[in-house]
Amino acid sequence: MGYVNWKGGLLMRILLTGGAGYIGSHVVKLLAKKGYEVLVIDNLSTGHKEAVIYGKLEVVDLKEKEKLSELIKEFKPDAVMHFAASIEVEESVRNPTKYYRNNTVNTLNLLEAMIENGVKFFIFSSTAAVYGIPEEIPIREDASLRPINPYGKSKAFVEEILKDFDSAYGLKYISLRYFNVAGADPEGELGQSYKKATHLITRALKTAKGEFDKLYIFGTDYPTPDGTAIRDYIHVMDLAEAHILALEYLLENKKSDIFNLGYGHGYSVREVVDIVKRVTGIDFPVEETARRPGDPPVLIADSSKAKSVLNWNPKYDNLGFIIKTAWNWELNRRY
Ligand code: UFG
Repeated sequence: MGYVNWKGGLLMRILLTGGAGYIGSHVVKLLAKKGYEVLVIDNLSTGHKEAVIYGKLEVVDLKEKEKLSELIKEFKPDAVMHFAASIEVEESVRNPTKYYRNNTVNTLNLLEAMIENGVKFFIFSSTAAVYGIPEEIPIREDASLRPINPYGKSKAFVEEILKDFDSAYGLKYISLRYFNVAGADPEGELGQSYKKATHLITRALKTAKGEFDKLYIFGTDYPTPDGTAIRDYIHVMDLAEAHILALEYLLENKKSDIFNLGYGHGYSVREVVDIVKRVTGIDFPVEETARRPGDPPVLIADSSKAKSVLNWNPKYDNLGFIIKTAWNWELNRRY
């Protein structure tokens, strides 16, 4: 596994799908800083080649299974980290085919190509959306999976496939269930750059910037203190750090596992809007409207498992700071 690098340590090769995208690009940066050799594969459908500044990029679509297998054979990765996916809850309700193809079928292609070439370690970008409307808040990893939208289902199916691949082929994986990822690289090199910008914080910042006339609040009749939905917002660099810890844990312990990644407390949509207005100093127009289909009322992580097992120690648990890094990126975007 790997070969000796100039520091005398083992240089690991990581194949990372979706590395030109928002979260993947931040993970590539951390991996490269820690001395990993990274090959990014991305179809650039929502990613940006400018975001791949710390690894090599191959433009490939995960539906091209033969090509994937060839790349894996050639690069010989020690592990695969899989970020490439479609990620919008509302779109998944309108267009489930896209989600089952991109998220479920394409992941199966990738896993098959790995097994064909003897690659046995896999880090999977899962989501809090697999829980649906949880029975208990905060949500623990052993809560039942009852996704309420095709996006959540497309990822929950992969988690089922992973269990079977572990039993049948000895694939060892870690599935990371992300809560609401936000913010940007505090060094300003990377951030979210997505044409449609449907996520709350990005949408609010673009409204503050004048790119949209107003921000819509989707639903004010949720069973929450102010009637708007509550989410656990986690800074993308804390999330990225957890990936490195998960990878190291997996390579060392060779044991499959699942971890939630969030801070364990939430903010309502109204609270987020207030903080965006305070951080930007801009009082943009807001309009209350109906609920968005597929949205659960409250998602808050219990991440004590990631803290105790992976020694994850998040640094940026401060929504004002998260929004500030995203605002800084929005004002000084490289791509
Ligand atoms: N919202 C608005 N107005 C907007 C955008 C969003 O009111 O313009 C609301 C949404 O209805 C929701 C909340 O803000 O209640 C957060 O919405 P986002 O679109 O920012 O994020 P989601 O919670 O829908 O989804 C995100 C990721 C998923 C992940 C989920 C886990 O996109 O991949 O977080 O919590 F599964």
